[in-house]
Amino acid sequence: MFFDAIDAGDVAAGEINPTTREAFRLLKDPTVNARFATFDRVRPAADRKAVIARYASAATLSPVVMRGQANFAKHCLVCHERRGGGPKVGPDLLAIAGRPVEDLIVAILDPARESAPDGLGFVAETSDGQVVSGLLVGETPSAVRIRPAGGIEQTIPRAGLESIRPTGRSLMPEGFEQVLTQQDLADLIGFLRGPGPTMPAAGGR
Ligand code: HEC
Repeated sequence: MFFDAIDAGDVAAGEINPTTREAFRLLKDPTVNARFATFDRVRPAADRKAVIARYASAATLSPVVMRGQANFAKHCLVCHERRGGGPKVGPDLLAIAGRPVEDLIVAILDPARESAPDGLGFVAETSDGQVVSGLLVGETPSAVRIRPAGGIEQTIPRAGLESIRPTGRSLMPEGFEQVLTQQDLADLIGFLRGPGPTMPAAGGR
């Protein structure tokens, strides 16, 4: 399985997307949790301040916007759009184009620092053992509605709900430094601060 590939060195622990890692962490499977704990220990130190200091140079590198766009598609598009539309799981990022590079470095590498309350993650467990994590977007006496990364909402009837709890942290995962170099981050921010896609003219305007 997946962890054997890591043990065998076929997959470097650092190559695993933070979104995937968070999903593993939340799974309530004792075998997976135990394997995960060992693999989690080999992660590089995750002191956020040190990470941000290490990536401060991203502000001085010249961005290659095309590469930034590719990295956005790979790591961020599952939760964010960037075209002035409605939010997916995270906010549409066209709005942050004017923010200073230094702020964006912090927002990307230390998402917990300024987490918005409506960006907090929830984990629901169904009576048949399914684990769904995402934003809690709706609650009625008979069901809860969760929007996971990827954006496809799931309605879970309370009758089939074993438990639901907040994760206590942002749904935006920590640890993007493990898949992005300083230059990658500069490229990504260059893309995020760029003009964005040309919007098709709205009807009649
Ligand atoms: C699993 C979902 C998820 C992924 C993947 C993700 N984000 Fe986020 N992001 C969020 C959520 C939810 C928020 C809003 C809540 C918060 O601030 O914690 C957010 C907030 C942000 C903000 C702050 C926006 C603001 O208005 O202040 C930035 C910037 C951002 N993300 C950039 C990125 C970039 C760049 C990537 C890819 C490297 C990425 N995110 C990947 C979910 C995600």
